[in-house]
Amino acid sequence: MKKRVFSGIAPTGDAHIGNYLGAIRQWVKRQDDFDNIFCIVDLHAITVSQDPTILKAKIRELSGLYLAAGIDPKRSIVFVQSQVSAHSELAWILNCFIPVGWMQRMTQFKEKSRKRKEQVSTGLFDYPALMAADILLYDTEVVPVGDDQKQHVELTRDVAQRFNSIYGQTFRIPESLIPEVGARIMGLDDPTTKMSASETAVGHAINLLDSVEVIQGKILRATTDSQRDIVFDGSRPGIYNLLVIYELFTGKSRKDIEAHFDGQGYAALKKELGEVVIEGLRPLQTRYRELTADPTYIDSVLSEGADRARPQAEKTLTLVKERVGLG
Ligand code: AMP
Ligand code: TRP
Repeated sequence: MKKRVFSGIAPTGDAHIGNYLGAIRQWVKRQDDFDNIFCIVDLHAITVSQDPTILKAKIRELSGLYLAAGIDPKRSIVFVQSQVSAHSELAWILNCFIPVGWMQRMTQFKEKSRKRKEQVSTGLFDYPALMAADILLYDTEVVPVGDDQKQHVELTRDVAQRFNSIYGQTFRIPESLIPEVGARIMGLDDPTTKMSASETAVGHAINLLDSVEVIQGKILRATTDSQRDIVFDGSRPGIYNLLVIYELFTGKSRKDIEAHFDGQGYAALKKELGEVVIEGLRPLQTRYRELTADPTYIDSVLSEGADRARPQAEKTLTLVKERVGLG
């Protein structure tokens, strides 16, 4: 029996190389090692305001990107969160077992709410309860995510343990799986902040569907420093981030990369990095165009994925309701 994997990305903004290197590519690499479920978490997307037409398009786009990156619907379940109602239902129940103090400690909420000028919704605060429901519905053992999600997986473990200790063994306790390199790709314009879809500055993120010219331009303008040598030095975040991206797309060792750029300037690094990223994304972009040429294909994958996920989710939800005494 393979271990169950569950992970997801919210269809907000454009998917970027942080999502790819920190999450999607890891899922693809280990697709055969696990029994996988990959979700497009649209209920998480509406925790901040969304345009309905754009949201609907982004759900299809992100699904297409999962598939284009190599997620194989024969080997993995791919589905949209809102198509399986058990996610919302379990999230409500879990809410009633999560002390407010646990939620108040979530650093992602603190950061997101600090940045937002408009109102912050209760949904944004409660986001980790829905994420816990996603994970716990499927007896998940492994949750492959970037390092910003580690705290949410910890909260999931805590609420599962708490529920189990009150009602007896109900939930399996999951663990996060964080890549050693690439768990935190930084913004190109500001390498001290995480690359994020909610950051709107033009030169911030390389999006997975960016054109050749756009990718080159963003990398050429990336913030570096006033030093010269090209080495992996964590105290120089701009150059370090570019080198990590180079490392992940080429698969070369850090020693070889430093030797390769020895005596060269930042312009050479940026030029070559642009080529490496463009080549690295090319197969994904080509496949994406092929897949989306048939407008019905993605919807059929998603509908089949939801049909496969639903009975598993229902089974857990039924057990939980019984334990709590509902219905
Ligand atoms: P999100 O875009 O916040 O829904 O994130 C989806 C997945 O991508 C999660 O597993 C994140 O941890 C991962 N991720 C998002 N941004 C980055 C980043 N800058 N570096 C590495 N992983 C990331
Ligand atoms: N909260 C995650 C993020 O922002 C997305 C997510 C929702 C998720 N549910 C999940 C990730 C379940 C892993 C497992 O990246």
